[in-house]
Amino acid sequence: MECSWKTVLLLVCASLGVQYTAIRTLRDSLSGPCQGADRCQTRHHRDSRWRGLCDDGWTPGESPRKHILLFATTRSGSSFTGQLLNQHPGIFYVFEPLYHVQQAFTNSSSRLRRTLDRRALLGAYRDLLLNLYTCDLHFMENYIRPEPQDHTTSSFFRRSSSHALCSPPVCSEGGDVAASDPPDESWCSKKCGALNLTSASVSCLSRGHIAIKTVRVPEVGDLRTLTEDPRLDLKIIHLVRDPRAILASRMMAFSDQFRAWKIWNATGRQPRYVDLSQITSTCKDMAASAETGLQRPAWLRGRYLLVRYEDLASKPKDKATEIYRFAGLEMEDRVQTWIAKNTNSNASSLSEWSYRYSTTRDSRATAESWRLRLSFDIVRTVQNLCNDTLALLGYKQVHSAAELRKLSHSLVERRTFQPVTS
Ligand SMILES: *[C@@H]1O[C@H](CO)[C@@H](O)[C@H](O)[C@H]1NC(C)=O
Ligand SMILES: *[C@@H]1O[C@H](CO)[C@@H](O)[C@H](O)[C@H]1NC(C)=O
Ligand SMILES: *[C@@H]1O[C@H](CO)[C@@H](O)[C@H](O)[C@H]1NC(C)=O
Ligand SMILES: *[C@@H]1O[C@H](CO)[C@@H](O)[C@H](O)[C@H]1NC(C)=O
Ligand SMILES: *[C@@H]1O[C@H](CO)[C@@H](O)[C@H](O)[C@H]1NC(C)=O
Repeated sequence: MECSWKTVLLLVCASLGVQYTAIRTLRDSLSGPCQGADRCQTRHHRDSRWRGLCDDGWTPGESPRKHILLFATTRSGSSFTGQLLNQHPGIFYVFEPLYHVQQAFTNSSSRLRRTLDRRALLGAYRDLLLNLYTCDLHFMENYIRPEPQDHTTSSFFRRSSSHALCSPPVCSEGGDVAASDPPDESWCSKKCGALNLTSASVSCLSRGHIAIKTVRVPEVGDLRTLTEDPRLDLKIIHLVRDPRAILASRMMAFSDQFRAWKIWNATGRQPRYVDLSQITSTCKDMAASAETGLQRPAWLRGRYLLVRYEDLASKPKDKATEIYRFAGLEMEDRVQTWIAKNTNSNASSLSEWSYRYSTTRDSRATAESWRLRLSFDIVRTVQNLCNDTLALLGYKQVHSAAELRKLSHSLVERRTFQPVTS
């Protein structure tokens, strides 16, 4: 087993040599001290022979650069989970950069704001992720509106969520701003002025690792070329949540878009024009990704971790440890401190966090509070639409309104989805 693994590695190394020549000519625009290390610090870094083969910029003792993707869906608890990564001083964290790509690809003159070409959009998503993982933040300029001038922009989406983008060298105002984590979205640009994408790239290169959160990639299969890219050591954290909770949270956060649902919830009668397609595709995508991940195909092996938000909410420290172990990183003190401060065994602390940081005042957002927010009729409908997803991820269905409201009876089955291997 061990022997054949090494043989495969050697073969891969030989073919990578050829690929690297092509890659260099393709993308050599950004050269920095970490660039060489970036290329070498792939999945093959553990093999010393490989290290010898491409020893341009390798710094012994440094943990190899990790490319972490927090792969989630809207209102699945990804802001909170992203903060666990953002607290690590060696991680350059970006909160949903694909927002800008989607904006650029959306027909804003159409009333329904349609995406013009799904396949091209996914390609652009991957391009941007790859460029960010190699610390080329200038690539964002293709998508940010209004167009950045002199590589600076005031329109970087949710910049305040990223510690690196709001502290030196990017933010000249100085001061470590991690401690306060103010909830107001605009505090960072108020404090630091427009974002200089060149210095953001420099900051990215100076940090050892990169983590990106996205809710815009539908399925894990859409990321395959990135997991196979020899320049990256991609680690995908797939964050899932009970779709009934996701729906309840979306209804609270986007009340305009969910007006029909709210009428349904309030009156007990389903309006004809209620749109069931969004939650249906959320469920389908979530299940398809989980199925793919749990089947451990070769291109995803060791690169996929399934995390249920409910488990993270009930045992934040254990789950965070698991996430960091999977990513191959130490959980720094600052992460521990942040967890201790923002969560405790008391679930209300987590809801306090949601209250302060989410876009809406969702003050009772405990992991299972959705059970008080949705009518049984809606719950039953979602259960029918999402029954396979619920079964796959270990969420129990309810069969009466009484069962729905009985919070002492948890609907989250105990599950271990896979042992952590690296
Ligand atoms: C955008 O949507 C409008 C209205 O639906 C349509 O007339 C127009 O052709 C669309 N533009 C593109 C580029 O598809
Ligand atoms: C952006 O940062 C770079 C590198 O720190 C610097 O050389 C450049 O002058 C800055 N651009 C602006 C417009 O301040
Ligand atoms: C749990 O939260 C309640 C309400 O905020 C608070 O009064 C109580 O002290 C907390 N308990 C613990 C163990 O933190
Ligand atoms: C649904 O209705 C219940 C009871 O009327 C209410 O408490 C809850 O806030 C509503 N949920 C949403 C998402 O509006
Ligand atoms: C989900 O519902 C469909 C259609 O009613 C059914 O065929 C399928 O077996 C159900 N799946 C589970 C896991 O219950």
